[in-house]
Amino acid sequence: MSTELPIAPTSTDAPYEDPLDLMDEIDALKKEKDATILAHFYTDGEIQDIADFTGDSLKLARDATKVTTSTIVFAGVHFMGESAKIMNPEKTVLIPDLLAGCSLAESCPPDKLAAFQEELRAQGRDFVTVAYINTSAAVKSLCDWIVTSGNARELIEQQVPKDKEILFVPDQHLGRYLMEVTGRDMILWPGSCMVHEIFSLQDLNRAKRRNPDSIIIAHPECPHNILEVSDFIGGTEKLRQFCMSKTEPTTFLVATEVAMIHPLKQAAPQHEYVPVPGIMADSGETCACNRCPHMARNTLQKVRDCLRDGGPEITWQPFFDKAKEVLERSLLESPKQPPAGD
Ligand code: 13P
Ligand code: SF4
Repeated sequence: MSTELPIAPTSTDAPYEDPLDLMDEIDALKKEKDATILAHFYTDGEIQDIADFTGDSLKLARDATKVTTSTIVFAGVHFMGESAKIMNPEKTVLIPDLLAGCSLAESCPPDKLAAFQEELRAQGRDFVTVAYINTSAAVKSLCDWIVTSGNARELIEQQVPKDKEILFVPDQHLGRYLMEVTGRDMILWPGSCMVHEIFSLQDLNRAKRRNPDSIIIAHPECPHNILEVSDFIGGTEKLRQFCMSKTEPTTFLVATEVAMIHPLKQAAPQHEYVPVPGIMADSGETCACNRCPHMARNTLQKVRDCLRDGGPEITWQPFFDKAKEVLERSLLESPKQPPAGD
């Protein structure tokens, strides 16, 4: 099976430009504009290569607070740019494409969440709302805690009193996984990630049969049928650390967004990484849908353009103040982390 990235849909048909020239231009603009580039592990490898910081959602949210330049360019999706702005109100935060959204964030509009919380309160339920970081800032402002795949288990175990119910939004699969590992009951919002939702169990089983000694690693955004056959479950940074911890050359079957193979190869080049394909719900055919179309909106051209033009920019919104309080409490003062692995 090939580990090549499939061609992903992008928002423009920009004329071809040499990636090396673009990288040089970006380097020069970074200095001229006093900017730092942050890139999520799911962006194209060439964007990760020119970034000053790469990582998972947790590390990048923390890295954003260490930036010393006046401008941050966040190559990722909208909620990540928002979080960087919330943590750094005085900085200019640019994102290469304003339309880079997230199916999880979209599944949980703030008015619907507020109405559901009201309903629960009217029933006399004593609950706290824990939100995955893949939510809009408006939703974050309605919540008690924000978690990422990197700190969710520890934060729930250490911060949420046992006598409180938990409303977990918006990822039902991550929520179900957290119920299992923490032993806590949760009210789950019915959202899911469009990429992790559609991994093909059949293709995964087939790949495992072809590579009986392989290790299946999966992101907890995957549904239960994928997680139950996986050998290791973790957010992107935990997956990276797990692969690094194995010194013997190993084949890993990777059930997460396919661009993740780039940082895995960089961190532990002794291994082979086989991406698990997705499957289309309507036809049942295997597809290249293990590439997030939102993350794929980030291109070198757009990174260059947003540096050159000073936009699109994430601007401060009134509800950011409340979201800041929750984000800082959750991510900056978050609990002691155990070693990699769950
Ligand atoms: P992490 O990198 O925090 O594991 O998150 C995955 C993700 O889906 C980001 O959108
Ligand atoms: Fe959202 Fe899924 Fe894309 Fe991550 S991979 S940004 S959760 S749609």
